Amino acid sequence: MSTAEKPKAGLEDTVACSSAICYLDGDHGVLAYCGYDIHDLARHATFEEVCYLLWHRRLPTRAELGDLQSQLVAARALPEGVLRLLRALPAGHSMDLLRTLTSALGHYDQDANDHSAQANYRKAVRLTSQISSLVATMGRMSKGLGPIEPDPVLGHAANFLYMLTGERPSGLATHAFDVALTLHADHELNASTFAARVAAATLTDIHSTIVGAIGALKGPLHGGANADVMRLLLDIGKDGPVEKAEEVVRARLARKEKIPGFGHRVYHTEDPRATHLRQMSRDLGQRAGEPMWFEMSQRIEALVKTEKKLNPNVDFYSATTYHALGIDVDLFTPIFAVSRVSGWTAHVLEQFANNRLIRPRAEYIGPEYPQRYQPLDAR
Ligand SMILES: CC(C)(COP(=O)(O)OP(=O)(O)OC[C@H]1O[C@@H](n2cnc3c(N)ncnc32)[C@H](O)[C@@H]1OP(=O)(O)O)[C@@H](O)C(=O)NCCC(=O)NCCS
Repeated sequence: MSTAEKPKAGLEDTVACSSAICYLDGDHGVLAYCGYDIHDLARHATFEEVCYLLWHRRLPTRAELGDLQSQLVAARALPEGVLRLLRALPAGHSMDLLRTLTSALGHYDQDANDHSAQANYRKAVRLTSQISSLVATMGRMSKGLGPIEPDPVLGHAANFLYMLTGERPSGLATHAFDVALTLHADHELNASTFAARVAAATLTDIHSTIVGAIGALKGPLHGGANADVMRLLLDIGKDGPVEKAEEVVRARLARKEKIPGFGHRVYHTEDPRATHLRQMSRDLGQRAGEPMWFEMSQRIEALVKTEKKLNPNVDFYSATTYHALGIDVDLFTPIFAVSRVSGWTAHVLEQFANNRLIRPRAEYIGPEYPQRYQPLDAR
C-alpha cells in the first residue's frame, strides 16, 4: 500500500460494503430497516415482523408471519447437551457464557453440515430463537434457579421474560421489551455486524459468524456499554442522592474518562433509538416505584450535553429500561445479542448471497525493509 493512502482511524466514514438492510443518516438522526423508519417500526411492528423484514427485505403477510412465529416457537427448546454445558461452566462474564454456548449450539444443529441458502435461513431462525432461550436460562441459573420450559402460546418478547422470571409478564412489560428488541435489531455496519460479515465472507458456517459477533459485542465501546451505564448509576445511587450524579460524572470527565452510553461514531444528533428508550425508562421507572434512576440519567444527560456536546446513544436509556423490568445488570449485554442476532444473521445471509472475500490492506508502519537477519548467537 502506498504511503499516500492513509487509512482513516477506526475506518471512520469508510463505506466497506453494499447492503439493502439498514439505512442510517447520522446527520439527521434517521434509522430505517429496509426503508421502514425505526419510529414506525417501534410503534407498530412486533419483533417477529422486524426479523422477517430484515431477513426478507419486506414485511410479512399475516400467513408468513404466522409461519415464522411457528418456526421460532419450534426452535425454543435448548439441546440437553447445551444445558449440561451451562451447568458445568464456571460462573463468569455473561457474554463469555453466551459466546461459548452459542458455539455449542452449532454442534447440535440438525443443519450443521448443510451450508445451502435454505439451511442457513433455518439456522438464522433457530439461532434467534435459541439465543433468547439461552440468555433467559443463563439469567435463571446465575441465581441458582432451574430452567423454565418455553411457552408456545407466548410471542418472542413475552416468552423471553417468562423463561427468565417464571411468571407471565404484564402487557406493558411485554410491549416495552418487544420495542427494545426492535430498536436493537440492526444498525448497519456496527462493529459486531462487521465482524460477522468478515467471517461470513470466508464462507465459514453461520454459527462461527455469530460467535465472532458476540465476542465483538461484549466490548465496553460497543454492547458492553449498557451494563456499564447501570453500574455507574448504581454506584452513584448506593450512597448518595440523585444530585450526586453531576459531581461523579464531572469528576470522571475531568479524569478524561468516557461516560458509558454517550457518543456515537455515526450520529451527530439524537440517536432515534434513544428517543423511545428515554420515554420507556421514564414510564417504567415510575411504575416500578423507582423514578430516581431516570432522574439521575436526566441529570447526567444534561451535563454531558453541556460539557461534551455528546448525546446519549442506544445504551444509555436501555440500561434503566431493563433495570425497571427487573432484569439483572449482567444480562443487559446478552439481551442486546437476543435482539441483534436478527440483524447479524440478516447481514450474514446477505453476505453469503453475494460474496467476495473481505481482505483489505494495512498501511505498513513497521521497521524499514529490508532488515538483515542476525543468527541467534549474534543478537
Ligand atoms: C461510541 C464511541 C466508541 C464512538 O467512538 P469514536 O467515534 O471513535 O469517538 P472517539 O472515542 O474518538 O471520541 C471523540 C471525542 O469525544 C470524546 N468522547 C466520545 N465519547 C465519549 C464519552 N462517552 N464520554 C466522554 N467523552 C467522550 C472522546 O474522548 C474524544 O475526545 P477528544 O477528541 O477530546 O479526545 C465513543 O463515543 C464511546 O466510547 N462511547 C462510550 C461507550 C459507549 O457508549 N458505547 C456504545 C456505543 S453505541
